[in-house]
Amino acid sequence: MGSSPSTSPTRTRTQVAIIGAGPSGLLLGQLLHEAGIDNMILELRSPDYVLSRIRAGVLEQTTVELLEQAGVGARVRRDGLRHGGTELAFDGQLHRIDFEHLTGRCVTVYGQTEVTRDLMERRAAVGAPTVYEAEGVSLHGFDGDAPVVRYRRGGVEHELRCDYIAGCDGFHGASRASVPAGAIATHEKVYPFGWLGLLANVPPARHELVYANHARGFALCSQRSLTLSRYYLQVPLQDKVTQWSDDAFWDELRRRLPSEVADRVVTGASIEKSIAPLRSFVTEPMRFGRLFLAGDAAHIVPPTGAKGLNLAASDVGFLAAAMREHYLERSDAGIAAYSQRCLSRVWKAERFSWWFTTLMHKFPDTGTFDQRMQHAELEYLVGSSAASTALAENYVGLPLEPSRATASSLHH
Ligand code: PHB
Repeated sequence: MGSSPSTSPTRTRTQVAIIGAGPSGLLLGQLLHEAGIDNMILELRSPDYVLSRIRAGVLEQTTVELLEQAGVGARVRRDGLRHGGTELAFDGQLHRIDFEHLTGRCVTVYGQTEVTRDLMERRAAVGAPTVYEAEGVSLHGFDGDAPVVRYRRGGVEHELRCDYIAGCDGFHGASRASVPAGAIATHEKVYPFGWLGLLANVPPARHELVYANHARGFALCSQRSLTLSRYYLQVPLQDKVTQWSDDAFWDELRRRLPSEVADRVVTGASIEKSIAPLRSFVTEPMRFGRLFLAGDAAHIVPPTGAKGLNLAASDVGFLAAAMREHYLERSDAGIAAYSQRCLSRVWKAERFSWWFTTLMHKFPDTGTFDQRMQHAELEYLVGSSAASTALAENYVGLPLEPSRATASSLHH
């Protein structure tokens, strides 16, 4: 996998240079490859490092369809777990939200690590180029007609000339950082807590995910398979993973769950344990001349609605469509519409993730009024089919197409 420094020419050319070999860069690469569009991926890390990152686990139907288009649908169809609903817990009770009944749609539980592995294997099988451990990546000339990406590998300088650059290198990557400050607007909200996640080889406590609002803080029961569980606890930002023994984690988790769930939690040694801060972040626009930002390079959602990976996938779906229109149909309409198409969906997912985060977490320094509002909203949510449907349709994923108003405004 990847080209070695000795065989890589110092100067290369491709149609689309993709920065980042996480799920969005890899998915874009395979969608372009399927369309006969040449692309090369540059990644700072090694393949093992990329695969070691434990991230999201819930795929919208539209994400699964994009994986199918990219030629990697077989394993997710076979091993992915279809979930027709989710459970909300508060006041010691469980309440099921039936996605399938309310929206006709389901979600698929399948780890981001598996998505990445499937795409990496497929890319290697079709012989598409990926350069791992590409250091000092810098982006040039994307405001003109001939962008160039420079990088170093094994001490050798390389130059990649291309028609377009796709920045799929995450929140801390070089792509967004290379846009001049005056050309970009950012919108951010930082939450006063983090999530401590634990992965263990134990069967999940419940068949579906459980999102729990508790006076001690939020808890989530998730899973990767019938034998692999992923649990989360809301923790103060100052907490360090080393303060949390596995036993302390399991004790706190059970305290925050209704007894019928807590009694069924199977404990075991952690395989991975980490703390992630919660943040909402949006970059506008998402295209700068011939540079497109996609996924976490352009926006971050708090994990509460499981939207991060799905948004990255839909960005990349819009970008692949724009590239197909450009190369195969000689139309730049998709390129012109890219940013607006993505952002229309991004802002709705930002709203949902912010709302669900606000509803489910314990906020420091809130008074009794805010606590009562949270409680009233939870009761309304589980008691009203209108409110339950609003949760369900956002959770399973809003439609990819822009609304008709947005579509017609694109022509002006
Ligand atoms: C996960 O399994 O990692 C997961 C699931 C649902 C969420 C967030 C994370 O909302």
